[in-house]
Amino acid sequence: MKIAVVGTGYVGLVTGTCFADTGNDVTCIDIDQKKIDNLNKGIIPIYEPGLTEMVLHNYEAQRLHFTTDLPAAIKPAEVVYLAVGTPQGEDGAANLSAMWAVVEAISPHLRDDAVVVTKSTVPVGTNERIYSMLKDFTGRNCHVASNPEFLKEGAAIEDFMKPDRVVVGVRDEEDAEVLRQLYKPFLRTEKPFLVMSPQSAEMTKYVANALLSTKISFINEMANLCEKMGGDINDVRRGIGHDSRIGFAFLFPGVGYGGSCFPKDVRALAAMAEEHGTVPQMLRSVDEVNERQKTVMIDKVKTHFDGKLEGKTITVWGLAFKPRTDDIREAPALVLIDWMLEQGATVRVQDPEALEKVKADYGDKLTYCERRMGSVDGADALVIMTEWKDYHSPDFAEMYQLMASPVIFDGRNLYEPERMKRRGYTYHSIGRPT
Ligand code: UGA
Repeated sequence: MKIAVVGTGYVGLVTGTCFADTGNDVTCIDIDQKKIDNLNKGIIPIYEPGLTEMVLHNYEAQRLHFTTDLPAAIKPAEVVYLAVGTPQGEDGAANLSAMWAVVEAISPHLRDDAVVVTKSTVPVGTNERIYSMLKDFTGRNCHVASNPEFLKEGAAIEDFMKPDRVVVGVRDEEDAEVLRQLYKPFLRTEKPFLVMSPQSAEMTKYVANALLSTKISFINEMANLCEKMGGDINDVRRGIGHDSRIGFAFLFPGVGYGGSCFPKDVRALAAMAEEHGTVPQMLRSVDEVNERQKTVMIDKVKTHFDGKLEGKTITVWGLAFKPRTDDIREAPALVLIDWMLEQGATVRVQDPEALEKVKADYGDKLTYCERRMGSVDGADALVIMTEWKDYHSPDFAEMYQLMASPVIFDGRNLYEPERMKRRGYTYHSIGRPT
């Protein structure tokens, strides 16, 4: 199939590349000339395991093209994916100005039978609006479908290649069939291809992210309760997880969720709910609990040092909002770092992928460490904010010798409190006895 993907951000690039990988002829379009020039030179703008190799492979096979020439790419396309950014506006609602501009720009060039598909996370009703805009611009009923993505950063290729399900929102079966054929190679393990209305598909995306965020805020609140009332959240998690109605997934307590999706989508859904005259109590609470959770390490560090951080050297392991990405958007680590800098601490940071991005924002305010052990040499405390694999089994004996005082604040519960005590550390974690 001939496919055009408008927007070569995270979603667009992964979608286009994976469709090219199953033999389709894909052209990815962007208005950012530099980005397109770089992609044509094999320079990939994001860090995502496996993506670079796959882009290069399909580019060399001439199934994947990058261009700023929108009309030329749209004219032959049987399927046009819209994957432009939908950033959060000041009121929390999604800003769709880029989407509307693209819809207008593609309209004169669309084939009569082209299926236009939204892949970006868009408010419920966006598909309907695109449908009526295209009708105004072209004078005919166009094919507009919704196909939300459920990719996780760091596992995007795997998620795209082996989805748990594919959701499509369509007006007629013909459009569903086009997308069914496109997805056939990815659904060979009998995972479902779910057809529904465009509104339901749009809503599904928000509800999925809102429910996952709710699970995290819930377990974080319970972890904080364990700290106050006694109990170990890890045992509690095991105690509830074996109930098949509950399960284990997304119930790891930590320092709050971050990234470009959960915070934005929870707020956008709440804003939509308010726009429709309802009070989104759950959603607002999920967001508030999360904002609060991003400061739990501040409370712990503050208590330990009696509020006096001046002259202290604190090392932070993990800056990205989660492992296997260099993404620092809404990352809990940054909230802690800002506070420690305000308090006059010397802050050293270590991360396997995100150092460059943090350096671009913080410059010489921080000390950037390539090596884990070097980063704790002479430190008064270590705070772990992201559960990168590298942090799971450091040489505790060596670290004990290196640190000025052996204090660890573990925001991801990587180690066993009892063992840490035996190793001589003062060890603080989330929802577990100290
Ligand atoms: C999330 C969803 O998981 C994807 O399905 C969705 O497609 C994507 O948003 C999106 O809307 O584009 P992502 O933001 O990449 O994906 O990250 P997740 O792996 O879901 O993690 C989000 C945050 O939750 C991270 O900060 C992580 O540390 C935190 N988390 C996750 C926890 O604190 N505890 C958990 O048990 C799980």
